[in-house]
Amino acid sequence: MYAKIQETACWLRERMPSKPTTAIVLGTGLGQLAEEIQITLAINYKDIPNFPVSTVEGHTGRLIFGKLGDRDILAMQGRFHFYEGYSMKEVTFPVRVMHEIGIKTLYVSNASGGMNPSFKIGDIMVITDHINFFPEHPLHGPNLPMGPRFPDMHEAYDKKLIELADTIASEKGIKLQHGVYLGTQGPTFETPSEYRMYHILGGDAVGMSTVPEVIVARHCGIKVFGVSIITDLGVEGIVCEVSHEEVQKAANATQPIMADLMREMINRNEVAE
Ligand code: HPA
Repeated sequence: MYAKIQETACWLRERMPSKPTTAIVLGTGLGQLAEEIQITLAINYKDIPNFPVSTVEGHTGRLIFGKLGDRDILAMQGRFHFYEGYSMKEVTFPVRVMHEIGIKTLYVSNASGGMNPSFKIGDIMVITDHINFFPEHPLHGPNLPMGPRFPDMHEAYDKKLIELADTIASEKGIKLQHGVYLGTQGPTFETPSEYRMYHILGGDAVGMSTVPEVIVARHCGIKVFGVSIITDLGVEGIVCEVSHEEVQKAANATQPIMADLMREMINRNEVAE
């Protein structure tokens, strides 16, 4: 596993047009931000040695080197989900490689179902913490020499980056929610009882991604900032039918605000470096 990570990192280092320290997982809601990247090199996942290949609808599957404003960045367009059948090692492989090529800060986004009764569809929730509800742990097995056997998780989401997000949001008049993201395997959306249970357990929003990548990023010391778009509501009494299309639609409507926030975060990120 470690040898494969090294091999992929080495392959990328030979081709990298820049040495970014910032990476973005262009999850749901960050499509518009993707369009703002001045691309210098884009490589399809299928052409990168040892990389899994993305299959889910609406995810292109390529690694992008480029500039966002003045900042060199690495972006993952399309991510790997556990529900697609990948192992946790495959889901998190790109984050390991990111560490080996010098990434220090990781920005992630996703779509989620809001369980906090004060949330509305289209809200942006800054992820302040997570609950790992996946059935397999990404660090299961021999510890890779990239971090400790028992990694600390008391501040999985960087507090300074959360403060920066709040500052930018108040400057720009963007409304932000804060909350705990509960990560589940999917691919089913939740039953009303499951939403209720996850809320009782401490989740403000529930989704099917992000937690594995964040755990691995923290294991190897990468700082993380995460946001979630509330695309449907799992609030007792108002749970109604959810579809992938609706999730995409709600997320797309929030794209301009997400792009504005993330662009600004990334350009001011020396706060955290
Ligand atoms: N549950 C799980 N994942 C999701 C949801 C949800 O309600 N909405 C978007 N992704």
